[in-house]
Order: sequence, then C-alpha cells, then structure tokens
Amino acid sequence: MPSRRNFLAAALAAPSILDAIPPVRASAARPVPAPVPQSAPSWPDDSDPAFWDRIRDQFYFPRSEAFFNTGTIGAVPRFVLERVIDDMRLVEATVARWDYTERTDNSISGYSPALPIRVKLGKLVNADASELALIQNATMGMNMLASGIELKAGDEIITTDREHPGGVCGWQMRAKRDGAVWKHITMPQPANDPEEIVRLFEAQITPRTRVLAFPHIISPTVVVMPAKRLVALAHDHNCLAIIDGAHAVGQIDLNLHDLGCDAYFSSPHKWLLAPPGNGMLFIRADRQDLFWTTLCSSEWDDHKSGMYRFMQYGTGNASLQVGLDAALDFHFRIGPDRVRKRIRFLADRLRSGLQQIPGASINSPVNPEMCGAMTVYSVRGVHGSDLEETMWERRRLRPRSMGDPLGVRHSCHIYNSEPEVDAALEIVSDLAKQHA
Ligand SMILES: Cc1ncc(COP(=O)(O)O)c(C=O)c1O
Repeated sequence: MPSRRNFLAAALAAPSILDAIPPVRASAARPVPAPVPQSAPSWPDDSDPAFWDRIRDQFYFPRSEAFFNTGTIGAVPRFVLERVIDDMRLVEATVARWDYTERTDNSISGYSPALPIRVKLGKLVNADASELALIQNATMGMNMLASGIELKAGDEIITTDREHPGGVCGWQMRAKRDGAVWKHITMPQPANDPEEIVRLFEAQITPRTRVLAFPHIISPTVVVMPAKRLVALAHDHNCLAIIDGAHAVGQIDLNLHDLGCDAYFSSPHKWLLAPPGNGMLFIRADRQDLFWTTLCSSEWDDHKSGMYRFMQYGTGNASLQVGLDAALDFHFRIGPDRVRKRIRFLADRLRSGLQQIPGASINSPVNPEMCGAMTVYSVRGVHGSDLEETMWERRRLRPRSMGDPLGVRHSCHIYNSEPEVDAALEIVSDLAKQHA
C-alpha cells in the first residue's frame, strides 16, 4: 500500500508532457484532456494536518510567507503551472507540425471550442458544455453580456452599490451610450439578513426594469448573496438575473442549473487556482439568443454550437486553457467538498478568534448562510493599510487592505494553515491592546 504522502504525491504527479513529443507524428496533437478524476475515498480526513501540509508543497511561495489574498488572485499549484509551461514548450517544439486540419488540435485558443475542458468545467458548476464559454476573465464576461443585450432608453438595470468595476462598468456604459438607467441598492453594512437584501432589490423594481445584476460574493465586503432568492425575484418580475461569480467558482458550492440564473461569469484564476487569463461565461441554453456576440470572428453567428460563438476572440494562448484543465483536475483530485470544508474551517477559525478580541470588528457577515472563505475586519484606531503592513512586517502574512473603515480582507485557501490564522489573530490582539 502506498503511504499517505506518496499516494498524494503520485496522485498529483503528471507525466511529463514533453515525453509525449513524438519522433514521428502525422500531426501535433495535444494530449486529450483526462476525464474528470474521482477523489480517492481512502484519503485521510480533512482534519489531518499532514494531508494539508502535503498540499502546501504544491505551491511555489515560501513556507515562511502566508498568502491570504486569494480574493485578488489565487496562487497556482505546481501541478498546474508545470502543465502550462510543458504545453507551451510542446507548442514551440512542434510548431512546424501543426497542420490545422483538426480544430481540437489547434494551438490557438480563440479558434478552438475546447470542448473537453468545457465539459469538465460543466461538471463542477452543473452546466452543459454548450452553455459555457471559456473566455479570459470576469470583466470580459460582464462586458459581453452588458454589450450583447438589447436595451432601449429607459430600460433599467439594478445592481448593488458594492460592485467591482469588472462587474458593473459595462452597465454604466450602456446607460451613457443608450440612455438605459443604471440603479443600485445600498447594501446594509454589515449584511447579515438575506431577506433584507431581497427586499431592497424588490423596492427598486419598476415595470421598466430589465436586469438584476449582482455579485454572488461581493468583492469589498465579501457578502455571499442570497443568489437563488434574487434570481426568483428577477423572474417573478420578468427580469433577467445576471450574476458576477468572480469569487464563487472554487470557493462555494455552485450549481448553475439549480440557481436558475440567466447568465453567470467568473474568474477561475481566483479560487479555482487556474492561471490568470482564464474566464468562464455561462448563458442558459434558452436565453442565449437574447445576447449578441460582441467579439466577432468566423463563428460569431453560429447559434447551433451554443456558447462557442462567445469564444471568437482571435489568437489566444491555448496553454492557459490547459492550465484551467489542470486546475480542474487538481480541484477534483482533492475533492470539491474537501476544499470547501477546509477553507470554511480556516475562515470560521479566524472569525471566531476575532470575535474574542475587544477592539477588533468583523465588517463582513457572521451569519453562516452569508459567509464564505473571506472575512473583512478592522482594529479600532488602525487603518487597513497599516494593519496589512504590520501583518507583513511582523510575520510575513499577506491579507489585503480594503482601506478605512473596512480594514483588511482576509482570504483563506488550501495553502493556509491553522498556525497562520492564529498568527494573524495574535497580531490583531496585540494591536487592539496597543490602541485600547
Ligand atoms: C466581484 C468581482 N467582479 C469582477 C472582478 C473582475 O475580475 P477580473 O479582473 O478577473 O476580470 C473582480 C476582481 O476582483 C471581482 O472581485
């Protein structure tokens, strides 16, 4: 029987793709993506620190540094980055052999449907591959939707007042360009009552409202929104529900068919730990014809191939999509449930520690239904950027400042540990005493 450590190492080790460069081949073909790996039922419980310690080996940044800023960008595992680099080498080593006869062998991503990767991604988010486009990031998804939908002067779009620019600016552009009306609700701060958020949206809806566009997880205040209830509200009023899921894929359980939204976009380079340059755009099969494609190349008007018409962005680096495929493998091999439980466990440890410290405030939800793996907190009398800097100076911990009065946003992922969370709590406690 392999030892636990060896088992995991073997499970995560990929055969070198360079070994696959053939001496003689009719055409240079990428290895076909592996089917979705099942997580091993015999793996140790997620409370076993040795298991997570082994996972930590998958990351390049030194063990003396704690990375708590997945909310901005995830750290890419070795398993993933090495597959990207190997694939780029393969492309360069075989560039003369590509005969461009088979679309799936294309080394250029903007001309390839990349169907096996979309199938694998669909298994994670419960969507059909034909409902998913691989794009470059959430901003691109938001823009494709906002620019692609027909809107007349006076048509209303309702968002929150806590949007990331990459989730909202396309709607603002439509307001300026076409006379559409961009409105927003004022989010409660902190937000702990899902019904209150639904009521706030409902109060803004008029007969001219066409779209409710909201984040699944809010960027600066990390609220996990009552997305399913907001989708139902939108549909009750004949509006579309469009969700900015930049933070959701890989952080929380996501079932797009169950959620029922009309469209959804995400940045898998955050919580799924895919290399930057990977985005996901979902449009429900029966809503796709409501959206024009706005980045057009040869297949722009092909309505029979589902979301492929939204992947017509010209030459891109297909090795990055190989990285998305590898990130999905990595995630599935550890197990989506195991990842979610672990990151939630670390975040809950942080939240309950903060609640014991007089002078520290949690400025993000504490209602378990609205919490994920991120927490926003402050220390009385300490600016967010000073808190971030102190964490780095004293213990090499890297959360991200959200400024005053929010404090820092602290993201927990599988590369974090209990001692790292406890080190942050010690610093908070110390600063709170100093500023009492
Ligand atoms: C909620 C939200 N939406 C959209 C974006 C934009 O993401 P990207 O820069 O990957 O397009 C971000 C980035 O942090 C975000 O937090």
